[in-house]
Amino acid sequence: MALSDATPLRILFATPEIAPWVKTGGLGDVSAALPAALAEAGLEVRVLVPAYPALLAAFPQRSLVARLDQPGGQLLPAAISHVELRPRLGLLLLECPACYERHGGPYQDRTGLDWADNAMRFGLLSKAAALLASRETPLDWRPDVLHCNDWQTALAPAYLRYRHAPGAATVTTIHNLAFQGLFPAASREALDLPPAAMALDGVEFYGRISFLKAGLQHSDRLTTVSPTYAREICEPEHGFGLDGLLSYRRDRRGGDLVGILNGIDTAEWSPATDRSIAAPYSARSLALKQLSRAALGERLGLDLDADAPVLGIISRITLQKGVDLLIEAAPTLVARGARLAVLGSGDAGMEAAWRDLAAAHRGRIAVRIGFDESLAHLIEAGADMFLMPSRFEPCGLNQMYSLAYGTPPVVRATGGLADTVVDCTPATLANGTANGFSFVPATTHALLATVERAIEAWRAPEAWRSLQRNGMARDWGWDAPARQYADLYRSCLPAAR
Ligand code: ADP
Ligand code: GLC
Repeated sequence: MALSDATPLRILFATPEIAPWVKTGGLGDVSAALPAALAEAGLEVRVLVPAYPALLAAFPQRSLVARLDQPGGQLLPAAISHVELRPRLGLLLLECPACYERHGGPYQDRTGLDWADNAMRFGLLSKAAALLASRETPLDWRPDVLHCNDWQTALAPAYLRYRHAPGAATVTTIHNLAFQGLFPAASREALDLPPAAMALDGVEFYGRISFLKAGLQHSDRLTTVSPTYAREICEPEHGFGLDGLLSYRRDRRGGDLVGILNGIDTAEWSPATDRSIAAPYSARSLALKQLSRAALGERLGLDLDADAPVLGIISRITLQKGVDLLIEAAPTLVARGARLAVLGSGDAGMEAAWRDLAAAHRGRIAVRIGFDESLAHLIEAGADMFLMPSRFEPCGLNQMYSLAYGTPPVVRATGGLADTVVDCTPATLANGTANGFSFVPATTHALLATVERAIEAWRAPEAWRSLQRNGMARDWGWDAPARQYADLYRSCLPAAR
């Protein structure tokens, strides 16, 4: 297919969440910012997302553009409505009230239990994506590329393979291999998959249906969200049983699997324009950062002291993020004079441990359990450094927010953390690349030793300023990654193969 400038590449971007309306983590941020950057770069993008209550409330003026009366199997009938967000960027809302109009999160009810019918809810999302990307599409807009994101959309390439005449090339992005969408084999018929799909080279994974494997097996191209994570998932330690398939895809045709580092939405996350912080600042006016530090201390009830570094933590409270290491290290950090500002939610046992720590160290450890966008911004600006000791991290956005805010991160060197944080050493300080601190062993001991190193560096203001400025100098935005995605899309069109 020859593409002239007059025919922009058309991308159908399928996702289960999109910020600011529906977000449980970084995928929501990426699904808002990457399509916008692609549209900015001249591509035509439609984002397909379930019509959750927050989206229906945000877009009462949407127009109905298609009905999916018989999606197949026991998938419920649905409709597609359209909203134009800006030139070349639209939302396609998948309306199925029985599936998506619920009180609770996109994947779980209010008690934290997975919705019992998630296979059918995201089977429907995948099926709708496949239909819109097929030659049978009910829309008068047919994409060149269907870009699926995570397991919730990853059955789409399998539907194109088994059920519908493919019209578009397919790309599947792994944002987190730990979540695979595994469901009983007995759901096969209800999901409208043929018996042949239950095979080693199909959607079957140890006797169950794996949505993510379907995408890894049947997409033309695979991506993940950092180059280091792309390498790590081809190894047993981080491969969750899919490393064999992933390394096969990586080595085929010179590389069907690539890592493209995420960007950050600089319209939302820039200290120069952020309205949730005490005062705007830049690399040239770092002294103003102190105002946000003071505001953070006041908002959280921390006893601030010029000699006591404030350590920020914003995280899903899970083992992935190494939150257990932080909990274990917290009393020692406080004994060394640090203050902790913690925001997060997740595992009930670890949430309780944080609450106990806050009660035992009033004024020194402040904990807010829950999701709080504006506090997240204030922590990024007001903390002196940011802690993120993840056991694995496909990309991670918070360390990039920290770098952009002059809040050097202390991280475990894994995945996207290894690709963005340059450990401070005499050599990296001298060549102007140092922007934070990193360590390798996933132990409390290594975390503590590295934070201590960071605190020592923080006590030397001049070197600390260079660290801050090095992080702030780099462009963390989406322009460069969007260009990489555009090149990838072009490379998987039939004419390019
Ligand atoms: P992940 O997607 O694995 O959770 P990322 O670092 O990619 O990790 O993205 C996390 C996103 O969610 C960031 O935008 C971060 O600010 C946000 N976030 C996580 N927990 C909270 C919280 N409790 N309150 C506000 N924002 C949060
Ligand atoms: C996942 C990963 C995180 C990544 C985000 C967006 O939630 O855990 O590392 O930044 O997706 O790609």
